[in-house]
This record gives sequence, C-alpha cells and structure tokens, in this order.
Amino acid sequence: MEGSIQTLRYLAEEILEDMTLDEKIGMIHGGELFKNKGVPRLGIPPLVMSDGPCGVRADFHPDEWINVGNTDDYVTYIPCNSAIAATWDRALARSAGNVLGQEARGRGKDVMLAPGINLKRTPLCGRNFEYFSEDPFLTAQLASEYVKGVQAWDVSACLKHFALNHQETNRLLVDEDIDDDVLEDLYLQVFKDVIDEADPYSIMTAYNKIHGEFCSESKFLLNETLREKWGYQGFVVSDWGAVHGTKEAAEAAIDCEMSVTNDFDEYKLANPLKKMVEDGEIDESLIDEKVIRILILMLRLNMIGEDRLERKDASYNTFSSKAEVLDIARGSVILLKNDDNILPVTRPAIKDKKVLIIGENANRIHSNSGGSAEIKALYEVSPLMGLKSRVGGGTKFDYIRGYCSKPDSNAVDNGTNWQELSLENGGGKQQDGTDADKELKEFRAKLRDEALNACGDYDYVIFVGGLNHDIDSEGVDRRDIELPYEQNELIEALLEKRPDTIVALIGGGCINMSRWIDKCKALLFMYYNGMEGGSALAEVIVGDVNPSGRLPETFYYSEKDCSGVSVGDFGDENMVHYRERFHIGYRYTCRENIKVQFPFGYGLSYSDFEVSNTSYNSGMREVKLTLKNNSDFDATEVIQVYRLPDEMADYLQLVGFEKIYLKANSSIEAIVPVKDKFGIGNYAVGKNVLELVKIV
Ligand code: GLC
Repeated sequence: MEGSIQTLRYLAEEILEDMTLDEKIGMIHGGELFKNKGVPRLGIPPLVMSDGPCGVRADFHPDEWINVGNTDDYVTYIPCNSAIAATWDRALARSAGNVLGQEARGRGKDVMLAPGINLKRTPLCGRNFEYFSEDPFLTAQLASEYVKGVQAWDVSACLKHFALNHQETNRLLVDEDIDDDVLEDLYLQVFKDVIDEADPYSIMTAYNKIHGEFCSESKFLLNETLREKWGYQGFVVSDWGAVHGTKEAAEAAIDCEMSVTNDFDEYKLANPLKKMVEDGEIDESLIDEKVIRILILMLRLNMIGEDRLERKDASYNTFSSKAEVLDIARGSVILLKNDDNILPVTRPAIKDKKVLIIGENANRIHSNSGGSAEIKALYEVSPLMGLKSRVGGGTKFDYIRGYCSKPDSNAVDNGTNWQELSLENGGGKQQDGTDADKELKEFRAKLRDEALNACGDYDYVIFVGGLNHDIDSEGVDRRDIELPYEQNELIEALLEKRPDTIVALIGGGCINMSRWIDKCKALLFMYYNGMEGGSALAEVIVGDVNPSGRLPETFYYSEKDCSGVSVGDFGDENMVHYRERFHIGYRYTCRENIKVQFPFGYGLSYSDFEVSNTSYNSGMREVKLTLKNNSDFDATEVIQVYRLPDEMADYLQLVGFEKIYLKANSSIEAIVPVKDKFGIGNYAVGKNVLELVKIV
C-alpha cells in the first residue's frame, strides 16, 4: 500500500484499537519458528519470515528444526552476497534482489531475512560469504539495489545483523569495544546509507552486545539511533534467540522476538511480558508501538488494509530467474592471473582434446549448507558439469578427485537441523584446527598420487579447489586463511609437472596461495556462485564470457596482515576490540604499505583497457574519462574512484565505481558519479586500489 508513514500509522492505529492484549502480544513474538501469530478474528495473517540471502530456505515444521521434506521447496539458488559484490554491478545486484523477491512471493513469504551487510572486518569470519565487502560504499551501493529488487515484489528485505556481527566466535555474548565515532560513522552508517537509499522495510538485530547492551535490547541502538535520530519506522526483528530480557526488550524499540525453541508462549515477549503488563510494570503503550510497526509493514506489503492494492503475485523456479542468476554468476568470476594467455582455452583449441579435471570442488555442490543461508537448490551446476555440458562430446573429460575435505560418509543425516542447538556454547566457535588423522592423510596422499600420475596424459589440466561450507559457515570462524585439505601440496606438485595447469578456487573469502602462486600461470576465483556457478566458470574458461569480476575484499597473504581481528583477539572470548578504528581492509594495508596477495578491486580481463582524459567536475560531482578496449574481445571494465587521504580522513576510500561494457576495439566517454561524505577532496581513478592515477 502506498502512502506516507503517517498515513500508514493512522491506519495501523485504527486496526490496533480492535485488538486485545493477547492478540497484540501474539504479534510480537514467534508463534512458529518463522512466523509470529496473526489475528484471525481481524483478518490479520501471521507474518511469514524466511532465510536467506542465496534463496528461499526449505520449509521446516512449525515447531521443529526438521525439514518438512516435500518436493515443493526446491528453489533458485542465487549467488551469495560476496559473489554479487564481486560483480561491482548495480544492475546485477538489483537482479539478485528481483529473483529473491519473486521467489519469496512465489513461495508465500513476507519477509526475506537478507541481505547481510556487516563489513568484512576480518577474513576469518565464517559468515563472510553472506556479506558483501570490507568497503562500506561498495556494500551500501549494491545492498541498496538488492533491497529495491526484493521489495518490488511486495516482500520485505531485512538488513542484518544490526550491528557489528563480525565474527561467529561466541557471537551470542561477545561485547564490542568500539569508539563512538567509528561505530556511528562507519559500521552504523552502512545501515543508514541503505535505509536512505532503498528504504528497507525490516532490520534484524544482531546477537552480540555493544557497549554492554544486547543489540536487541539496546536503547542506544534502537530507540536513540534507529528511531529518534534516523526516524526509521520499519519492522525490527531479533535474530533467533537474541532477546534476553523481557523488560529490556519491551522498552527497547524492537518489534518482534524470534528464537530457536518451540516454547513460543514462554518467549520473553510472550507470557512473561503479559504478566508484567498486568502487574503494571510495563505500560501497554510500549506493546502498541511494536504492533503498529508490524501493521505498518503488513500494510506496505498489501497484506492487510481495506484499500490495499492487489498484492503482487509471482512464480518461483522460472526460466527467467535462472537466466538472471547465470548473468550474475558470469559477472562475478574473477581472473587473478593469466600469464602467457593460457586462458581462454577456446572451443576450437579444446575440441577433440583430452581434459583432466582435478579437485573435489569441481564435483561438489555448496547450496545445501553454510548455516541459515542453506537452501534446497532446484539444481546446482558444478564446474565439472559446467565444462562437460558446455564443451560437448567432442572433448574427452576425465575427473579425478585429487583431494578430499573429509572421509566419505555414507551416513544419511535426517536428524534435526544444526540450528536447534545453535544457541549453545556461545553460539559459535573457531575451527578447532585439528589435523587429519593418519588414515585420512594416507587417503589424501593416495588421491594426490592418482592425480599426479595421470596429469601427464592430457592436453589440458584444470584444478578446482578452495573452501566449502564446512569452513565458510554460520557458527564457526576460520582459524587462518590457509588452503585446507593438503591442497597446497597437490597444487605445488601439479604445477611442477604441468605448469600450464589452470587453477580455479571457490570459497567465501580470501585464501593464502603463496605456496604455489608464483608458479601458477592461470588462476581464477569465484565465491559460492549460485546454481549456475559451474556454467559461468566454464564459460569464462572457454572464452564464451570475458571475466569482469573484481575482488570486493583484500586478499591477504596472512590473516595477521589484517587490521581487524587476528587469531589472538578471538582468544578474548567476551570482548572484541576495534583498535583499528576506521582502518579496515585496504584502508589499513594501503596506509601501512602492507604487501597483499591481491588488492581490493583487483581482477583481470581477456582484454586490455586504456583510461585517458580524466577530469573531475566538482559542480556535478563526477569523474569523466575516456575508456578504450584495445582488444578483439567485447569486454567489461570496472572503473573505480578513490578519495585520497587528507586531514578530513587519513585513509583511502572508494567514493565511486561504474561497470562499463565496451565492444571490441572501441572507446567510450564514461562518467562516474562521486559520493563523498567529506566534501570535495582529491581523487584518483583506476582498476583497483593499488593501480590509481590521481585526477589533476
Ligand atoms: C540465524 C542467523 C540469522 C538467520 C536467523 C534465522 O541464527 O543469525 O542470520 O536469519 O537465525 O534462521
């Protein structure tokens, strides 16, 4: 329903007048694992919430963390938020939101619990794949488009996790020690920028504390900042199990308590709250405010209201959605090295040849794990399938596993979902880092030998490895950024025997490749790239697609080079210290001249670009330049504009970017709008944060 918040508030207040205390309280806490209680007597349906950023999560029983197990909840698997960020493409981010909103509406969901916009402060965070970037501008620009895409379908997006949820270790209880200016001007500002740009109808509060207050009960965060200072009237839902105190939550400006247990009427904002109201400890007006904001949300979604518009209808698993997620995946693949132009291996070159594909990740799917972002994908094209299906029968493909993440387990896990116990032991921990036992080491050596013994008999060798959701997952943080499962040993040995091996890594964040990268000539990286990720990777390898992905985060050599949480900090189970202040990611490494493996914004193409005639128009607040594609390939370049350090801000910061498509051997006059909160500064333009040319 259109109309100002005031109009919607007026309508909501009218509806509220007819509600009993029980009905009001039923609206502000979980009545099922993913729903509140509606008010059937007044024609108010329950609000149906669902994860997650990569697609609409499979259905659980109303009060058990066991999947219903029907065949109707297979869905479109969208590239993860990091993969969207790697496209640096606002249109593709909008497309991702469009698919998610359509799928959600098609599956009858009202609130999609996405996107996650916490910054990648440390490469060790297990949920980094669910977040966009280390940079606030890239995050806010792309998340805003994603939110607009979702909400165009009368479905609410939900920014999460508000705020500072930058680690999984002890996430339920950890307190954040951070200077007020850094909290407000960096970490909260990202949420404010998306609120101002895209008007997300919902926000989810984080588990952790800030300055000693749980986010879900923080008057500073919710009453003073979100409601009073920012004027946000949207729906605020707790993370599942993030509310601890009845009085605190009643007085804080949170609207609905969700959790993982099925004692719904015993939730803090259920019977305990009713008792406090009846005892006069809590004024009913505090409940009214929460219910009004829920009713405003439902009015905005055309769920209720006499004069509501016809609510958008939609389908899921459509062919158009698959085409959209393939385009996103194509724009997300990052070419990191291409010495001697080994890539692309064009179709004529590969036809009738023998290709050996090595690596567990060539043959593994990722959609079905990772925590609450897990989904039941209708299908997921692996790199192995992508290559074989795109190159056809003329080429002979063989596959060898080469390494294994863990011993094969034939056990079918039909037990309850991990989330039922997710509030135990602080809600998260670091990988235990235990080495493989003797038997697993021997098994891996056998797999390695098999690959090495075979690799000499093929025209092409492609290795696909990296991480998986045993490592990139909710509830667990990485110990380091090393490549696991003895992949380094295999890649080193492979490159000795076959220096032309094409290496492709898949993961949720940066990986230290220094053991072999100098010997590697052809190197690709992609995040968990959706149901067509394998197709997109194959199309880049054979040259059907010219790679245009760019790193949305710094790829360090070691997590110790990162200014944020190093392993030591995780040791302090109850406190995170933001000693680095504003200097996260490239802001730190550029300022301290720390050598990195690949810089923020980095990515190669099969084409060469030339930038010239750069100028800055202070009146229009935009950079103008000439961009030339000096190749026979149509190509896409990401032009990046950075504000240079000065007395206003002593760090480099991204203030503008545009992804520009160019036909082969053509040039274009490009304009890059600059959004600089610090007023006019000095700017530089380039293709990543280290290759910059100052604009005079
Ligand atoms: C989880 C996550 C949150 C998710 C929610 C519902 O614990 O922190 O991102 O949306 O609970 O599954």
